[in-house]
Amino acid sequence: LSALRRAIAGEYTKDGLDTREEHVLVTNGAQQAIALCAALCVQRGDTVLVEDPTYFGALEVCRTFGARLATLPVQAEGVTPETLRERLTATGARLIYLTPTFQNPTGSVMPETSRREVGAIALATGIPIIDDRATADLVIEGRPPAAIAALAPGAPIFTIGSLSKLVWPGLRVGWIRASEPLIQRLARAKTAIDLGSPTLTQAIGARLVAAIPEARRLRQRELKPRRDLLTTLLRAELPDWQFVVPTGGLFLWAKLPRADAREYAQLAFRHGIVTLPGSTMSAVEDHASHLRLPFFAEPDTLRAGVNRLAAAWRAYRGRTRERAKAVAIV
Ligand SMILES: Cc1ncc(COP(=O)(O)O)c(C=O)c1O
Repeated sequence: LSALRRAIAGEYTKDGLDTREEHVLVTNGAQQAIALCAALCVQRGDTVLVEDPTYFGALEVCRTFGARLATLPVQAEGVTPETLRERLTATGARLIYLTPTFQNPTGSVMPETSRREVGAIALATGIPIIDDRATADLVIEGRPPAAIAALAPGAPIFTIGSLSKLVWPGLRVGWIRASEPLIQRLARAKTAIDLGSPTLTQAIGARLVAAIPEARRLRQRELKPRRDLLTTLLRAELPDWQFVVPTGGLFLWAKLPRADAREYAQLAFRHGIVTLPGSTMSAVEDHASHLRLPFFAEPDTLRAGVNRLAAAWRAYRGRTRERAKAVAIV
């Protein structure tokens, strides 16, 4: 729908990324956007560079396309350009997938200087980057830097967005912003799959995109107290867990001392709480001592959740002490 693409283009242009309707393809959520980019760039056996940890939906896409996955460690300020350059040379990757704004799951934000360098790498090598901004609207503090494409004109960059996090995932309205020739190829790939996104949801989307600035403010008002509540509860009830307070996004990335988060998550399930261990978000099953903790739930749910996490942690600790004793007897 032209009205939706125009509205999306208008939002990007307002944010400093000059965009016309011809640069936008509407997709069924950011998930389909990732899949279409992979369909365009990846042949079976090709290497894709992904952050470690990263959004597991992207790992699923890459695996489905038969890609090999090579990892880029996520630091406090996201992936560094030096690492990207080195890994790109070492692996000969055909595609790079990044979530540089409130990274899922760590919440880290790549600074502007790194974004410029990363964009320059894509321009120099011709290897495309997916800049997945599905969580970029969830600002709690400060103002995140611009999309990579805005800092690297002419670089092969797929900028992905979605209404899922601001409005509702059930709507399935997402999009890709790229150069016109790339959009034309992506549009052909999408037509082969589903002939196009439903006109009804696109019409709703067109109205909602116009309300994005207001939706950002509402989400911020909701997310800030919830993030603060979760951090306060964790510090009080699980003081040995370590985490960096994220400035946006939906998750807190917690490190559990001397623990296997997979074992702990199973125990926590028996205490009535579902948590995701870090290894599920790693292409190489790393981050075994991390948990991803969402803070978007209602305050009462967060309170009940941390209570259960703490009860499960006491049980887990008791169990590991028992185990340590048993080893001592042997
Ligand atoms: C980084 C990231 N990309 C993409 C998606 C998928 O979003 P959508 O519901 O728009 O398909 C998510 C959802 O969790 C996400 O966190």
